[in-house]
Amino acid sequence: MSVIILGIESSCDDTSVAVVKDGVLLANQVAGQKIHERYGGVVPELASRAHQENIVPLVDVVIKDAGISLNDVSAIAFTRGPGLLGALLVGTSFAKGLSIALNRPLIDINHLQAHVLVHFIKHLNQQNRLPEFPMLCLLVSGGHTQIVLVKDYLDMVILGQTIDDAAGEAFDKCAKVLGLGYPGGPKIDELSRTGNPKAFLFSKPKVSGLDFSFSGLKTSFLYFLQDKMKENPDFINQNINDLCASLQHTIIEILMDNFRKAIKETGIRNIAISGGVAANSGLREAVGELGKELHAQVFIPEKWLTTDNAAMVAITGYFKYLKGDFATHDLPPLARMPF
Ligand code: KG4
Ligand code: ZN
Repeated sequence: MSVIILGIESSCDDTSVAVVKDGVLLANQVAGQKIHERYGGVVPELASRAHQENIVPLVDVVIKDAGISLNDVSAIAFTRGPGLLGALLVGTSFAKGLSIALNRPLIDINHLQAHVLVHFIKHLNQQNRLPEFPMLCLLVSGGHTQIVLVKDYLDMVILGQTIDDAAGEAFDKCAKVLGLGYPGGPKIDELSRTGNPKAFLFSKPKVSGLDFSFSGLKTSFLYFLQDKMKENPDFINQNINDLCASLQHTIIEILMDNFRKAIKETGIRNIAISGGVAANSGLREAVGELGKELHAQVFIPEKWLTTDNAAMVAITGYFKYLKGDFATHDLPPLARMPF
């Protein structure tokens, strides 16, 4: 009998619902929340309210898109954490209610594990090239920056992670200083295309092992701009493309230096990127180059699967379902949640 998983994601500012049948994605919809743009960052209370408004209509649309009825669903998978507590609470409560109403099991999902498992989603009418284990995944998002050793679907170990800001945070905070608005990552990416990545040199942090640090870069970028603007108040406007390209280049170099180290140390030759920052065109190119350099198989998700989505929640739910790993109805959402 087929296994049909309904996935629900509400950890930050995207409400998303998806259906996966026997590991194949049937439907996925994301309702983004434009409201946060005017505040320059995600406002938790507004995010929770928007999730509440979006979640029921999204389930309705996704069920229709998938060509199933709610009664066909084998289990409901929801993001338990990490994320914004109020936002997680909406998805968690909805999933629990639906699980009781349909009398179907509940599966709790770690959002980070889900970002990694995006690589194992099969797509209809496509040649699916799936990674083999072990795999090394560079997980880069707005809240996390980690090198993950993936031994099996549900067996992952963090080899290195940021000791302060995440890579996405570095993009977003520096973009804010440049007056580019929120979220800044995609805007820096766009403006970088016509800039010179070597126009300005920003120093890279010295961190031991496979850990990362981005807070120093953010501060030195700010001081650099303040100095330049004392001489020329229009410095940012006149150099915006070169500034974006140089900053992006530095962030990518910091990421690639450690990823290269991890690949060499472990000898693993299946490498992947995931998380929102994996949408970055420079990073996608750099990891492709790294794969060629180290003769590794490279896995890069389609762009729409890098940022938050429920397809990754549903596929993780599918693997947990096969193991019989279900949640009880008393599980609370968790703002922090280790692997
Ligand atoms: O995974 P995600 O959607 O949410 C979290 O779990 O954090 O990642 C969002 C992050 C934001 O920091 C956003 O600026 C960044 O991903 N991002 C990008 C790009 N697209 C999204 N950063 C750089 N270049 C992009 N094209
Ligand atoms: Zn995420």
